[in-house]
Amino acid sequence: MAQEDDEPKSRPFGIPTPGQRGYGGKPAEEEEEEAGQPDRLPDDATVDVDAEKKETHADEILARLDTELVGLKPVKTRIKEISDLLVVDRLRRRFGIGSTRPTLHMSFTGSPGTGKTTVALRMAELLKGMGYLAKGHLVNVTRDDLVGQYIGHTAPKTREVLKRAMGGVLFIDEAYYLYRQENERDYGQEAIEILLQIMENNREDMVVVLAGYKDRMNVFFQSNPGMGSRIAHHIDFPDYELDELMQIGQLMLDQQQYKFSEEAEAAFRDYLERRMKQPRFANARSVRNALERARLRQASRIVNTTGRQLTKADLLRIEADDIRQSRVFSDEEDGPAPADSNGDETGDENGEG
Ligand SMILES: Nc1ncnc2c1ncn2[C@@H]1O[C@H](COP(=O)(O)OP(=O)(O)OP(=O)(O)O)[C@@H](O)[C@H]1O
Ligand SMILES: [Mg+2]
Repeated sequence: MAQEDDEPKSRPFGIPTPGQRGYGGKPAEEEEEEAGQPDRLPDDATVDVDAEKKETHADEILARLDTELVGLKPVKTRIKEISDLLVVDRLRRRFGIGSTRPTLHMSFTGSPGTGKTTVALRMAELLKGMGYLAKGHLVNVTRDDLVGQYIGHTAPKTREVLKRAMGGVLFIDEAYYLYRQENERDYGQEAIEILLQIMENNREDMVVVLAGYKDRMNVFFQSNPGMGSRIAHHIDFPDYELDELMQIGQLMLDQQQYKFSEEAEAAFRDYLERRMKQPRFANARSVRNALERARLRQASRIVNTTGRQLTKADLLRIEADDIRQSRVFSDEEDGPAPADSNGDETGDENGEG
């Protein structure tokens, strides 16, 4: 997941990359000199918003976010707002209007499979395009990547992760597991303290995104006010409606070049309606898993029907039966309980089978 390119060879734009020299608490003049940047515009000059948006690829990235992701209206709106803020911040800096860099640390709350990781990837891309992150990669971690088992292990572990995330987005999934209220001596506290320092002092080197369920995250922020106060943008990811899940499924099928027969489409809607009410339902992730299973069944159906010539359409088509054989249709509600359904793309044990 964490794709880390080499250091950028040159600064992409004619303004200092925030996070590098020349963007911080110093007076504007001094900054500009340091970064060797073009002269500050005179007060009566004009700047072109459209050109700025073009240069940063802001509209392009937002448009892709819009077409690639179904629904998520409130999320898209918030990201557009952040993007607008940064475009204006860049324009202001052209005139040497000094202000501190906007805080960009965020929390993404919502149920599993609502698109948090996907949106974080897009956000990293956006921030890189705008010059607020040098690399724009995403480092996806959980408590286990940050917190050690023994005394003295946590700090080096956390620092190693932070080093990898420099210039990009550090995405901490289920961030509240860092804090264990019942255990004062928990090493998680040490990781939190290091993170707090970095979030304050290295705001230009990295953007931290804390992800997880909303209610647990709220409790976490209440217990760790320092963390809460460093988060500028709280973005909530709503659960998808049935129609949205259908659209997501359609999008995934298109991407993989499959098609539902008419009956299969109806069967899939039926499937989702049932699956939504069952345990461990994970929104878009469950849709993806279900389609993977359908694809497997389609393949066995095709391979095990002997003595037939196949057309292209046969290979493209998912039939109702490929859906209806799912265990979701037999009344057995509970599969074996997996410890954690996150990250498992097969769906075998997640209830999609
Ligand atoms: N709105 C959407 N439109 C299309 N595909 C989506 C949408 N939301 C999520 N997906 C797809 O669903 C899958 C799960 O999404 P993602 O991993 O971003 O969710 P998540 O909120 O991070 O989940 P988790 O909490 O389980 O980590 C991905 O394959 C993603 O491409
Ligand atoms: Mg995720």
